[in-house]
Amino acid sequence: MTDSTTPRKRLLVRTWGCQMNVYDSARMVDVLAPLGYAPTENAEEADMVILNTCHIREKATEKVFSDLGRLREAKQARGGDMVIAVAGCVAQAEGAEITARAPWVDIVLGPQSYHRLPEMVARASRAAGAVIDTEFPPEDKFDHLPETTTKQGVTAFLTVQEGCDKFCSFCVVPYTRGSEYSRPAEAVIAEARHLVSLGAREITLLGQNVNAWHGEGPDGRPWTLGRLLRALAETPGLARLRYTTSHPRDMDDDLIAAHADTPAIMPFLHLPVQSGSDRILKMMNRGHTADEYRRLVDRLRAARPDLALSTDIIAGHPGESDADHAATMALIRDIGFAQAFSFKYSARPGTPAATMVGPVAESLKDARLAEIQALLRDQQAAFNRTRAGMVAQVLVTGAGRHPGQMAGRTPWLNPVHFDGPAHLAGQVVPVTILAGHPNSLSGVLAPSVANHTRERPAA
Ligand code: 5AD
Ligand code: SF4
Repeated sequence: MTDSTTPRKRLLVRTWGCQMNVYDSARMVDVLAPLGYAPTENAEEADMVILNTCHIREKATEKVFSDLGRLREAKQARGGDMVIAVAGCVAQAEGAEITARAPWVDIVLGPQSYHRLPEMVARASRAAGAVIDTEFPPEDKFDHLPETTTKQGVTAFLTVQEGCDKFCSFCVVPYTRGSEYSRPAEAVIAEARHLVSLGAREITLLGQNVNAWHGEGPDGRPWTLGRLLRALAETPGLARLRYTTSHPRDMDDDLIAAHADTPAIMPFLHLPVQSGSDRILKMMNRGHTADEYRRLVDRLRAARPDLALSTDIIAGHPGESDADHAATMALIRDIGFAQAFSFKYSARPGTPAATMVGPVAESLKDARLAEIQALLRDQQAAFNRTRAGMVAQVLVTGAGRHPGQMAGRTPWLNPVHFDGPAHLAGQVVPVTILAGHPNSLSGVLAPSVANHTRERPAA
């Protein structure tokens, strides 16, 4: 615990990559708080800097090394009085390279070691070289991480599952995050209650393969994600549930049914498909065909007709021909995504795809990605336009950019702006959508709420 005698120290955490890293960064802040570290945004005043890194594509990795170059100067300017830590998946995969290329780094720690940070900080102050911990320790880090005490925003993340056993040919995650691990249902339910007590109204369950989550429920029976979501939906004060990222192969019947029978589960699903070509899907080791994905989407839409879908697409996986690319374009047209992420294939050392024959020329990857992104942009804009005229239930997340304006999100994850009083933050209110823009919506409070708020006495 900190007390008045504990010197205040400043901690800067920089986060790259997925939402799980965002969650992990918050937990590292929690772990270091008892040592007297308070967050800062400013590298010059930081006593400690943690780079929480992403290894998924080459670009993300290179950014870490350029950031480390800048931090070296900041550390020198403080006469060496700065602890620099590299965490996350680059640390896991390239620990030795980091200490060789950037000997001014004090701590290198993998994603399973965050609970050991205080001990590593103490060791770093005594050690001559870097303190490294990138083992996958047998004990469960979740059992050792303190509960967060930070006030939550209206929306919060909760990691329920980590690691991946799917071994898609292009992906480093099974190597950096290790094999699949599910947190026990009771721990997840307790953390959800805790997050709600700190202000969260919407919780997004996180996992590299979140719908592969499984574990023993409080009733002693084996639970899968559908059952867990139904139990979490009972959390008093919790309005909304989401989960990400899912694998098509793990969308079981019960989870699909949960979308139909559990109103707290929002009608938005991120379901990566990666390619629309059966040949490439096979090379990617995805374990399903393009038509199996189409049929899965049909079943999801039958269960929840207003479901909006998001996906990930990779352009230019080794061996991808013009016909394969055309099949991807056709699948995107068939499904109609509300949102999507698309990437140029990036060879990751140690993955099977990196040594596959038929690498696609960079210029061709660029051209295919541009075509994919133009189509996805059109689909997103079209989806947003279809929201105009609807009265959407909007979870108000806070103040908007302009005075008197509030911001929130629809069930389909669209950001929305509308004029309204500040006390609506944290509430779900009906908003008449007036216009769908490329990346957001704008609207006005629907009459019932507008009247209600006028009737409230001035604060
Ligand atoms: N190259 C390009 N994109 C990749 N992804 C994962 N690995 C690679 C890679 N080597 C993408 C996938 C995944 C998302 C998180 O990142 O689309 O779903
Ligand atoms: Fe990577 Fe495939 Fe696992 Fe997703 S399912 S994390 S793409 S290996």
